Amino acid sequence: MAELGTDTFRAAGYLRSGQLVAIPTETVYGLAGNALDAVAVVQIFEAKQRPSFDPLIVHLRSSDELDRYADEVPPLAQALAAAFWPGPLTLVLPKKDIIPDLVSAGLPTAGFRVPAHALTLELLNALDFPLAAPSANPFGYISPTTALHVIDQLGEKVPYVLDGGACSIGLESTIVGFDESRAVVYRLGGLSIERLRQIAPDLEVRIQGSSNPAAPGMLLSHYAPRKKMVLGELPVLMAEYASQKIAVLSFKNDYSAGAGVCAQEVLSASGDLDEAALHLFAAMRRLDNSAADIILVEKVPDTGLGRAINDRLQRAAFSEEEAK
Ligand code: TXA
Ligand code: MG
Repeated sequence: MAELGTDTFRAAGYLRSGQLVAIPTETVYGLAGNALDAVAVVQIFEAKQRPSFDPLIVHLRSSDELDRYADEVPPLAQALAAAFWPGPLTLVLPKKDIIPDLVSAGLPTAGFRVPAHALTLELLNALDFPLAAPSANPFGYISPTTALHVIDQLGEKVPYVLDGGACSIGLESTIVGFDESRAVVYRLGGLSIERLRQIAPDLEVRIQGSSNPAAPGMLLSHYAPRKKMVLGELPVLMAEYASQKIAVLSFKNDYSAGAGVCAQEVLSASGDLDEAALHLFAAMRRLDNSAADIILVEKVPDTGLGRAINDRLQRAAFSEEEAK
């Protein structure tokens, strides 16, 4: 079983010897290995049971390091890095050969970001290599936002979990690539479109919605609980499923007195979308572990982090039947 602690010296030792360590970031916990060591990277795919077509994100200690690992960094990428790093933004850029092809799943580009978490920055500063790290959950399941979430699911697969407390944002990074000189958002996440547009006004949002995507990692079904989750108008769904044991995931209203409701999570009673993002994955996990048969959930307002929350809810609620 993994050991839990705050010792970056220990964590660095494991990583230098080619082993994996779970690391805290402001978005979600990551499952990290030496990004320059293909053997360590293979272990990441194995531990997560992640398909090899799904590329990993390379975590750097500072934006100064970008030129060592990425080629042809456009001025707009530099400007976005200057504005938002350390922070919840991943930039997809042509990679240098020093990054093994396995990291990028064979793509000529790789995702790069500087995470905003003091403990992980301390760790990165102690290492002379960057860290490849996907979210530290089994492939397809809800991302972890506390060290205990990681222990619950990957505790047997890593020797050490660096405990940085609960993540401060709670959604994965926003992923931005470049088409000619234009910025393109490939994944909605912890940095809102509104904030990105302050630096990249003609930003394009190009979110994949296929069950067999050309750009990987955007599978329609993802971030999913084990229980069936249905997205819609809560009062309507609650009436429809009243004969079952219901878990309700609401934005701000209290539905705990509804017929059949045996578990409920309110994302933000005051209707704050940042707070809702922070609570989303932990709330989904609690409901998944409740005695309910089914999870009923509603969308949140589609602005700010609300867009990324709705994206996650849609993928979590997606069922194979809908694909037919
Ligand atoms: O916030 C985050 O980004 C977290 C923390 C740990 O940093 N990491 C994370 O990683 O969410 P992961 O593996 O769950 O998602 C990585 C996604 C891939 O699924 C893919 O969509 C995208 O990043 N990605 C990575 N490299 C890419 C590339 N070269 N081209 C397009 N998309 C890429
Ligand atoms: Mg993930």
